[in-house]
Amino acid sequence: MSEQNRVAIIENDNAGILRDTAVSHIGFRVVDVPTNEAFYANVLGLVRQAELPDGGVRLGWGTGHHVVDLIPGEPGLDHFGFEVRDVDGIPGIRGRLVEAGYEVTDLDESYVDFAATPVDAISAINPEGVPVHFHTAVWRQGENSADTGRRPIKFQHTTVGTADVQRMVDFFANAAGFRVTDQLADGRFCWLRSNTDHHTLAIVNVGQPGVLDHYSYDLAEWEDFKTWCDRLTDLGVTVQWGPGRHGPGNNLFVFFDDPAGNHIELSAEMEKFYDGHVEYVARKWHPIPESVNLWGGQLPKWRKTSEGNRGVEEARP
Ligand SMILES: [Fe+2]
Repeated sequence: MSEQNRVAIIENDNAGILRDTAVSHIGFRVVDVPTNEAFYANVLGLVRQAELPDGGVRLGWGTGHHVVDLIPGEPGLDHFGFEVRDVDGIPGIRGRLVEAGYEVTDLDESYVDFAATPVDAISAINPEGVPVHFHTAVWRQGENSADTGRRPIKFQHTTVGTADVQRMVDFFANAAGFRVTDQLADGRFCWLRSNTDHHTLAIVNVGQPGVLDHYSYDLAEWEDFKTWCDRLTDLGVTVQWGPGRHGPGNNLFVFFDDPAGNHIELSAEMEKFYDGHVEYVARKWHPIPESVNLWGGQLPKWRKTSEGNRGVEEARP
């Protein structure tokens, strides 16, 4: 690629402070709450845990912490959250965000949860106006030990769409304390870690601010992809992309949509990072289709790279 297309993503000393922080939950605004609730129950095994004001519903697995909020309204990303197990994690995040000039409020009311201990929770408004929740440890029923043929083993990462990748990195890495693991060399996509997983958050330039690109659940292993692709087909859910393997993260993937059009990924085998043992340098992947899909480079219709694009439709005979 040409030198002028290379963009370095800038991090400061706060990047990498978070070492034990995972994805927690996500909230969407949808027009039709009942249809989406039925989808999440039938396909992902998420059941209603609570009713939210104005006809919204809170969904989770068993008595575990909630995973998805469905909120009636103009379709879009309402908020997303992270579970912080770092020592002094919430005060640290709060202090760094406030110092950098971001708005932070308490979230006490929302976190009357199934946790045995009180949950400290904050909400910070990211640079594109979307609230980001950070809270201390919660109970997550069945995580990593569930019936993987009928429910994923956990909620794994959120990928937000933005109009300005660096502005979002300033919030998540240079203030909150995530760290860039990898980027596309054109600076239009980066993956950030906050524990040993290659990414718990990714940021991609989609030309508009404050949107969800996709979010992802983990399966236990490759064998489960067979079961899930058969299961999705039986349920009348169209597989939109994959199965394949990403370059950044090296994780296996398959994608499908919920009724509101949110892209959902199932993933496994994500690369691990051990910051306590080794100094990593973020890699810059060529912005070509083969980087985001090692198996042939076919892309879904909603994904493009700056150097070439091969849609699934064109690639299939
Ligand atoms: Fe993903």
